[in-house]
Amino acid sequence: MKLGIPKETAANETRVAASPDTVKRLVGLGFEVAVETGAGDGAHTPDSEFEAAGARIATSAKDAVGDADVVFKVARPTADEVAMMKRGAILAAVLSPLADKAFVSTYAEAGVDAFAMEFMPRITRAQSMDVLSSQSNLAGYKAVIDAAAEFGRAMPMMMTAAGTVAPARVLIMGVGVAGLQAIATAKRLGAIVSATDVRPATKEQVESLGGKFVMVESEETADAETSGGYAKEMSDDYKKAQAALIAETIKKQDIVICTALIPGRAAPVLVTEDMVKSMKPGSIIIDLAVEQGGNCPLSRPGEIVVVNGVKIVGHLNMPGRLATDASQLYARNLFNFIEPLVDVESGTLKIDWEDEIITGTALTHDGAVVHPQLTS
Ligand code: NAI
Repeated sequence: MKLGIPKETAANETRVAASPDTVKRLVGLGFEVAVETGAGDGAHTPDSEFEAAGARIATSAKDAVGDADVVFKVARPTADEVAMMKRGAILAAVLSPLADKAFVSTYAEAGVDAFAMEFMPRITRAQSMDVLSSQSNLAGYKAVIDAAAEFGRAMPMMMTAAGTVAPARVLIMGVGVAGLQAIATAKRLGAIVSATDVRPATKEQVESLGGKFVMVESEETADAETSGGYAKEMSDDYKKAQAALIAETIKKQDIVICTALIPGRAAPVLVTEDMVKSMKPGSIIIDLAVEQGGNCPLSRPGEIVVVNGVKIVGHLNMPGRLATDASQLYARNLFNFIEPLVDVESGTLKIDWEDEIITGTALTHDGAVVHPQLTS
């Protein structure tokens, strides 16, 4: 069995889909692993470390993936990159199929069985394969660190002979994996933290981390969570009530970290232009949802926008700003995905196409598009 890891080609993509640790584990499972030269540069992992772990260093992307039975990537490949893969190959990556449904047929036509890792079902057995969790956790941490770096004041309260420095007030919008890590990080830095979400289950989580929970409770919120643990889109009435509460809260904040997402849809607008204008000059907004349209309509992908002295930060690929850790965790997610599919005795892949991990993530199989979200 051959497994190839090409160098990522997308702009801003610093991560790599392997670590020396996972290469070693993959070799242990019986894979011949090829890593394209320079693939680990953005994650500060030189070829020599992959080589020492048992990989062959490939001279080009084609050399890495051309004869691979399995290809691991971070971001969606281009059509040219898909064309390099052999028929029957398995591709595992964050494929963003809903952002460009038509592209999915490229895998089918190339005979590549493509697996979208971000579609991993949120079941206990798949927790170790959950790339959204591993990457969001780092993004939530880095968002607070970025905010602290942009902020012209200190985060903790400081009592000094020259006077007292007030602690920063931080509001976290959306208390999923990224939001929880953002709360914990802001607390560690000494900020006064509050947080909001539409899922009532998050109240206890916020409070257990020492944050104050701010939320519009209604009959609707009792049903705001899908069976998979994600948020649903709320009604217009709810959005109005939520906006009024946030407008009151946000005026008093120094830093707002936006993490609210609804799977498969544009991110909800939570911080309006008027709210931004009500904030004090020098305040910071970090919009982690910027790639899904943003929780703040003023945020711009890849830019820092200043409105009335409020900085709105729209960094792209937040996990990629911690490329070494993000790559290590992502690579481990991919290893955990492939490991149960390997029949070590025969040295082949044995995939149960009925398994919910497979049906949840497989976009294409045997030349056809098979995922229910893409065929219906
Ligand atoms: P996400 O990235 O889809 O969304 C982030 C947060 O934004 C969520 O908490 C969501 O409720 C919130 N949100 C959405 N619309 C909002 C609005 N209008 N106003 C305020 N907040 C809004 O969510 P993520 O981080 O992927 O986590 C979702 C849930 O899944 C969490 O309960 C998490 O603990 C759970 N989970 C379960 C796993 C498992 O069992 N294997 C693995 C990872 C997460």
